[in-house]
Amino acid sequence: MSKRNVSRRQFLNYTLTGVGGFMAAGMLMPMVRFAVDPVLAGGSESDFVATKQKIKDLSTEPTRVDFSFTQVDGWYESEVTNTAWVYKTKDGKIVALSPICKHLGCTVDWGGDKEHPEQFFCPCHYGRYTKDGMNVKGTPPISPLDVFTTKEKDGILYLGQRKPHGEA
Ligand code: FES
Repeated sequence: MSKRNVSRRQFLNYTLTGVGGFMAAGMLMPMVRFAVDPVLAGGSESDFVATKQKIKDLSTEPTRVDFSFTQVDGWYESEVTNTAWVYKTKDGKIVALSPICKHLGCTVDWGGDKEHPEQFFCPCHYGRYTKDGMNVKGTPPISPLDVFTTKEKDGILYLGQRKPHGEA
């Protein structure tokens, strides 16, 4: 039976490689998980939040709908309040727009500018959006308002994730 001797140098190499690999895996795993987790987590029922808005009360005029939900961020839980501008199109489709201005994040208001009563208006730098959320050329915002996904259940409006215009 042959007996293999491991030199001090080899032993040190094996040990350092093992410990280094273990430490690298320990650092990389949370990063990989953080990057991949949202991709793997599909949309679910819990992505929608119930509002107090009855579907039958919606009209073609945008209505401000406030809603709140519990947000879990790691170990921290907080109650978040959010807002959407919601209306029905002429063919009955529900549109829910984010009120966050795409210029620098102020809050837009429906009909806030007397000269353009049929548009969303951002008072911070006079940004304007048409009723469907498209930014008006020549005003500061360079992209349309985000859109919430919507769902109806028992006559109540549910709002889901906020997505860029055209993706909801
Ligand atoms: S933040 Fe809305 S126009 Fe500037």
